[in-house]
Amino acid sequence: MKGIVFTEFLDLVEDKFGLEMVDKIISQSALESEGVYTSVGTYKFSEMLQLLQNLSTNTGIEIDNLLLVYAEHFFSVLEDSYPGLLSTYKDPIEMLASIENHIHVEVRKIYPDAELPTFLVESKTENSLVMIYKSSRAMHHFGLGLMNKTFEHFNATATITLEKIKEDGTEVKFIITKN
Ligand code: HEM
Repeated sequence: MKGIVFTEFLDLVEDKFGLEMVDKIISQSALESEGVYTSVGTYKFSEMLQLLQNLSTNTGIEIDNLLLVYAEHFFSVLEDSYPGLLSTYKDPIEMLASIENHIHVEVRKIYPDAELPTFLVESKTENSLVMIYKSSRAMHHFGLGLMNKTFEHFNATATITLEKIKEDGTEVKFIITKN
């Protein structure tokens, strides 16, 4: 997992819960990196999982909710870092349907070692999109947060339903309807 995902996560934890919480979740985790991350580095996903689990235990907030809020913050990082990529799009449905064949393709050119999910478009109309998310990391709620912000970016809203295809969340159907 890319370092930017860790640095932005710990920044948000500090913002919302304070520096003591950052220190606490780092010391409660067994981290090869010892909790020192640079935005261009690459670290094990298991480190992110431990940080999330410990934050969840300490705050009583479910991991899925933490990922949702974190993704909503991460979208603004993407807006600032990759304005050119986002300005290619004029419509949220078009943008989301292009994650697999365009957006994440460009991401892989920048970070060849990025660990990205698969998004298969099952059906698409002007105002609706059904996509299958697949990833061993089961970060579907991170996807949900990015999708919410994608609609907001285009001054739109949507109703998004998740249906787990696999109980462990490694395969999830997203049913997206523009309001
Ligand atoms: C992960 C970039 C848009 C869904 C990531 C990662 C990067 C990235 C750098 C982390 C990879 C790693 O740590 O190895 C971008 C950029 C985007 C974009 C630059 C737009 C400009 C989106 C959108 C979605 C999305 C709109 C909506 C669903 C995900 C998910 C992950 C991810 C779910 C977590 C990894 C996983 O589930 O396996 N993306 N992304 N991305 N991205 Fe994107």
